[in-house]
Amino acid sequence: MDDATADRTVPVGDAASRHVPVLLERCLELLAPALEPADAVMVDSTLGMGGHTEGVLRRFPHVRVIGLDRDTQALDLAGERLAPFGDRFTGVHAVYDEIRDVLRRLGIPAVHAVLMDLGVSSLQLDETERGFSYAQDAPLDMRMDATSGQTAADVLNTYDERDLARVLRVYGEERFAPRIARAIVRARTVAPLTRTSELVDLVRASIPAAARATGGHPAKRTFQALRIEVNGELETLERALPESIEALVVGGRIVVEAYQSLEDRLVKHALAAGATSSAPPDLPVLPPTHEPYLRLVTRGAEEADEAELARNPRSQSVRLRAAERVRPTPDHLRRRAA
Ligand SMILES: C[S@@+](CC[C@H](N)C(=O)[O-])C[C@H]1O[C@@H](n2cnc3c(N)ncnc32)[C@H](O)[C@@H]1O
Repeated sequence: MDDATADRTVPVGDAASRHVPVLLERCLELLAPALEPADAVMVDSTLGMGGHTEGVLRRFPHVRVIGLDRDTQALDLAGERLAPFGDRFTGVHAVYDEIRDVLRRLGIPAVHAVLMDLGVSSLQLDETERGFSYAQDAPLDMRMDATSGQTAADVLNTYDERDLARVLRVYGEERFAPRIARAIVRARTVAPLTRTSELVDLVRASIPAAARATGGHPAKRTFQALRIEVNGELETLERALPESIEALVVGGRIVVEAYQSLEDRLVKHALAAGATSSAPPDLPVLPPTHEPYLRLVTRGAEEADEAELARNPRSQSVRLRAAERVRPTPDHLRRRAA
């Protein structure tokens, strides 16, 4: 598992130069059939710097995009970038599992496409003060939504040793999770942890010298694990996938780009669940009510090719999957709108 993003930098400037959209052409190609209707609406659930959304608005001049982001700074920058498209773009401050709630508020019963480009943006990594990067000293924050919720410092200073070790092991696949957790608990009895540099030093000191020599920056896995915990990334994604699929019209498509294996596994399972019959395997005839309601439109997970990798280092770990809704979700499987 490796989201391979925390140790790269891009020039700081406007939204377009801050984040190069990953596999943009392929996303547009996968979305195109769903966006044919004259009244087509797409939700970009991870608006970020608006790179994918701008691509959609340019390529499909009749399409309207609703862009969600939990990060108000991203919404502001993307809003500026997309202002020339007028009312074809609407930005909404929301977590992506609220998709149906947002659509209900906007009076949109269903949409033709949902795009999810998971994880953090280059903006978030490059804004030192937000504490996502182990490469610069900053407050231990790591919240994508800087207006609410627990910070990395809250997690580090309040979780017990067992929970800390679990977070580091499960979300970071960190071999030395128990040692690092012990060091964190010991350090905070002296004073609460407040800075990313303190955490980096603790991690470095907890890892045997031989292991430090391999596998990239020693704090990379710890930072990834904390970011996932602070933002509840996996729980939110697990709720968001069926919510997003429910928001699609028949013929609508969902396209998801994941950058680490835990997220990709959730995407794979959610799409496979819809693309598989829900009938018990021993039934002689498949009842129409149990037929699959999704069709997979990518074979397995697609990765970036050499050209994309050369253009955009962020694409290194991408796994892209897409599916099309082929019928309404059967009643016995349908998730009710909250
Ligand atoms: C990889 S960036 C998207 C970049 C975008 N596709 C572009 O081309 O500029 C991911 C964005 O999704 C947002 N995000 C991550 N998890 C989210 C969630 N659960 N709900 C809403 N936004 C989320 C992050 O704040 C970040 O801005």
